[in-house]
Parts: sequence; C-alpha cells; structure tokens
Amino acid sequence: MERSPPQQTLAGRLAILGTLGALAFSVSAVAQQELDHAKADAEFAKFRAEMEDSNPAELFELKGEELWKAKRGPKNVSLAESCDVGLGVGKLEGAYVINPRYYPDADKVMDVERRIVWCMTEKQGFKFGDIAKKPFASGNYTPEVTSLVTFVAGHSRNMKFAAPIKDPKVREVYEIGKEITAYRAGPYDFSCNTCHGSDGKRIRMQNLPNLSTPEGSLKGVMGWPGYRMTGGVMLTSQWRMNDCFRQQRFPEPKYVSDTVTALLTYMTVNANGYTYKGPGIKR
Ligand code: HEC
Repeated sequence: MERSPPQQTLAGRLAILGTLGALAFSVSAVAQQELDHAKADAEFAKFRAEMEDSNPAELFELKGEELWKAKRGPKNVSLAESCDVGLGVGKLEGAYVINPRYYPDADKVMDVERRIVWCMTEKQGFKFGDIAKKPFASGNYTPEVTSLVTFVAGHSRNMKFAAPIKDPKVREVYEIGKEITAYRAGPYDFSCNTCHGSDGKRIRMQNLPNLSTPEGSLKGVMGWPGYRMTGGVMLTSQWRMNDCFRQQRFPEPKYVSDTVTALLTYMTVNANGYTYKGPGIKR
C-alpha cells in the first residue's frame, strides 16, 4: 500500500487540526470587525491553500474505501461489486461529476449521496430508517454514508462538472430545483434567493454565493463534501441543503429527498464545465 495506515495519518492530521482550530479562531476574531471582511476571506483562502496538501477529507476517503470494498449488510455484498454510481458497477473514475443523473433502476434522478443510500438499501439490504436516523456528522460521529460519498467524490478530483442536462428527466428536476430556490414561505417569507439571489450578500462573515450565476452555483457545489472547521466534522452537500432549510426557517427535508436532489441538480448543472477540485475544506 502506498498510503500510510489511517491511524498514523490520523495522528499527523490531529496536529494539523490543532493549528487549524487556532487559525479558525483568529479568523472569527477578525470577522467581528465588520470592516475586515476582505482580510478574513484572504486569510481563509491562504490557509485553505496550505491545508490542501494535507486535506483532512483524505481520512474520510480512506474510511470510505474500506466501506466500499467490504462485504456488508444483511445481503453480505460490497458496494464495489453491486453499486452503479453512473458509469457502471464499481466504476468510480469521474462518476461524481456526472451526477445528479437519472437511474432507470430506481426511476429517479439522484445525487451521489442519495444513490449510495439506495445501493445500501437495495443491494446490501440495510434499512433506510437506520441510515436516516443520524445522517450527518456531529462531534466524533461520522455516518458511513458521508465517508462513502467522500471516497466516491475523490475519484473526480480535477474533473469538469458535467451533469447530463440534455436528459429530459434531469432537465425536469433542474427546473424544479430552480423553482424551489425562488419559492418564498416560512415565518420570514424567505426563499433561497433572499440570501443567495444577488451578488455581494453577506451574513456575518459569510459570503453568500449568488446561486443563479454559474460562479455562485460553483461555490455552492465546490469543496463538498467538505471538512468543516466549524465543529471539525466532515459534511456533505445533503447536509448543506438541510442546514439552509433551517436558516430559512423551513422544516428540514427528509433525508435524501427529491427536494434536495432538485437543488443539487440546479446548482451542479449551473456549474457544468467548471473543474471540481475534490472533497475540500469549508469554513
Ligand atoms: C437566511 C439566509 C439563508 C437562506 C434563506 C438560505 N441560505 Fe444558504 N447559506 C446561508 C449562509 C449563512 C451560508 C453559509 C453558512 C456557513 O458557511 O457557515 C449558506 C451556505 C449555502 C451554501 C454553501 C456555500 C458554500 O460556499 O459552500 C449553499 C450551496 C447554500 N447555502 C444553498 C442554499 C439553498 C439552496 C437555499 C434554499 C433552500 C438556501 N441556501 C437558503 C444563508 C441562507
């Protein structure tokens, strides 16, 4: 094996994460002075660049690789021998960037996370209810699906987003996603676009991407799944969407729902043609 074993890597990473925490603190201190936004952005970009050499996401890729290859579940099969994430069973190279896509066997447009959950239930025999009980990372807990998504996403590093918008099924879901971003409701009458529909919007120190532009949508999909410094956990695009429903004071969608796939389809298609840099680091 070329890579060092996960434990050893982990020790090294933890040292780095200590530094990261200190840096995160210094960035948030900067952020308290509203005028220093640009400086905070620049600082974050700098240490993200520094971190890219020893990206904590790699830990989860390794974990995901183990899970992908292991025979598991009531049916005792591996995902490697049973799960098609867009290019055929077991083919991962470049699969992440051609999702969300239509899967005839499920008769649904699915993003990678949703597809992996589908494979775990349909092929391995896991129960959806068990997987959906705690779908996102918190504290020391990382769901298996998160590691699996990170592993699959790692195989599309430096490839161009190419969600198949020419497929009418994908087009339909894209249009729904677009409509959802404009749909206002909830106690504050917010839509996604209230916060993400024009350039230069900020909440506290966060630069809110304008999802209606290719560059804004690119920001929305780039770096996910991502290691989030706030909380120190690995999170997926599915989590990001759920968390924004919370920001919007909407009820959170059910795990791997049509709604979230539609939003991810909208953003990914808008970002088509841009290069995906792989699982990343998020503020
Ligand atoms: C009340 C304002 C608000 C609303 C409404 C809102 N968001 Fe967000 N969104 C945020 C904030 C704040 C962040 C950044 C949070 C962070 O980084 O900690 C964010 C981050 C994101 C990101 C990640 C950007 C990145 O750099 O990775 C995406 C994608 C996103 N939102 C999409 C949506 C979608 C889709 C909706 C509608 C379902 C939505 N948001 C509704 C405030 C909002």
